[in-house]
Amino acid sequence: MKRILLFILSGLLLYTNVNGQTKETTEQKEKRMQWFADAKLGIFIHWGIYSVNGIDESWSFYNGYISYEDYMKQLDGFTAAKYEPGKWAELIKESGAKYSVITTKHHDGVALWNTKYSDLNVVKKTPAARDLITPFVRELRKNDLKVGLYFSQLDWSHPDYPHFTRTIDRYKEDSVRWDNFLQFRHNQIMELCEKYKPDLFWFDGDWDYSAEKWKSGEMSEEIRKCDPKVILNSRINGYGDYGTPEQGVPIHKPEDKYWELCMTMNDSWGYQPNDKDYKTSNQIIRIFADVIGMGGNLLLDIGPKPDGTIPDEQVAILKELGQWTKKHKDAIYGTVAGMPPEYFCGPSTLSKDSTMLYLFMDYKPTGPVVIKGLKNKVNRIWVDGNGTKLDWNVKMKAYWSPVPGLLYIDVPDSVLDKDVTVIAVLLDGKIDLYDNPTK
Ligand code: GLC
Repeated sequence: MKRILLFILSGLLLYTNVNGQTKETTEQKEKRMQWFADAKLGIFIHWGIYSVNGIDESWSFYNGYISYEDYMKQLDGFTAAKYEPGKWAELIKESGAKYSVITTKHHDGVALWNTKYSDLNVVKKTPAARDLITPFVRELRKNDLKVGLYFSQLDWSHPDYPHFTRTIDRYKEDSVRWDNFLQFRHNQIMELCEKYKPDLFWFDGDWDYSAEKWKSGEMSEEIRKCDPKVILNSRINGYGDYGTPEQGVPIHKPEDKYWELCMTMNDSWGYQPNDKDYKTSNQIIRIFADVIGMGGNLLLDIGPKPDGTIPDEQVAILKELGQWTKKHKDAIYGTVAGMPPEYFCGPSTLSKDSTMLYLFMDYKPTGPVVIKGLKNKVNRIWVDGNGTKLDWNVKMKAYWSPVPGLLYIDVPDSVLDKDVTVIAVLLDGKIDLYDNPTK
């Protein structure tokens, strides 16, 4: 009996860390992360007073392109007069995204919700005069989209944030003021957590200080106490669930099991009418295929205008992206990273059970496309989203060699997609790839 009790006790201890928190097992984390891993596409929204002049969000005053006072004058022009959160959510859904992340507060400190911890919010300080987050969260949920909230930890308007630049009241080390600031951060985060129960928190602005100074570990634990299911990005000095490469498409598959590339459509996060350097929808679709082929998500950004309308160029991109994602849902959602690049010229994904292989071709082939090193037999090959059966044959399979033959697939011009063609390959079992003997 004693032994059994001891056994149970040690088991319990194993799952409990020093702070008395129950530690999550790998399986529990996988379960918690599942919707995120399956979602593949999210829409990022940078909406704030910076859209009034059409300038860089927060950084424009931090870097001295405009004074803090002039930056804040934009408060008067932020009307949200034509804001239709229902339309936003429908458009996001139409793009094929499964979640959205909206800026609740950027580095400038202007909150888009009715926070009781600071008067610097759009309800009190702008003609919008209402909470803009609440109706959006409601519409996302109505459309079966997951809710992500962006929150900047640093706050360049808060008098107790040491690294702020707007007055001469800059101070170096003052533990009382720093503690005040941490309390303020805690209050606002808890307010968001309790009010909206987001599926995901997207933190930013951790770079000024160490995890120790930010109390990052404590912060993530507090949030997990508020909602054990919530997903946290890792810009909490690493205390989070997934990596967030920014703008640059990774060359190789990143080491993080979960990751998300955040990316602008032009070169700006917020609305900047002067920035016409948009990527085409074709380029965005190809980047998206590349990202999911490496097992990641794409968080594609839009920057609404101060009146709450979304610029035409951005609407057009979301709609075109939607046509492609709708046609190719099987190859996108719920898949995992495909074959390493040596096996096929282009990205690929796999069904979770590894029996379906999807090949992404952003080119017009000059002959049959080829897969190297595939040990499986193929049961059927067709064009995803179109259904046309394709012919294939295997060449160079020497009966005495373990090296698989080359699998050639004929892809006629008539089935090519205008952006990225997807070929579905049904294997005879779990994918089995051949690798050169190491020596
Ligand atoms: C950076 C920038 C910020 C932007 C964010 C989006 O951290 O500071 O302006 O909101 O990236 O990923």
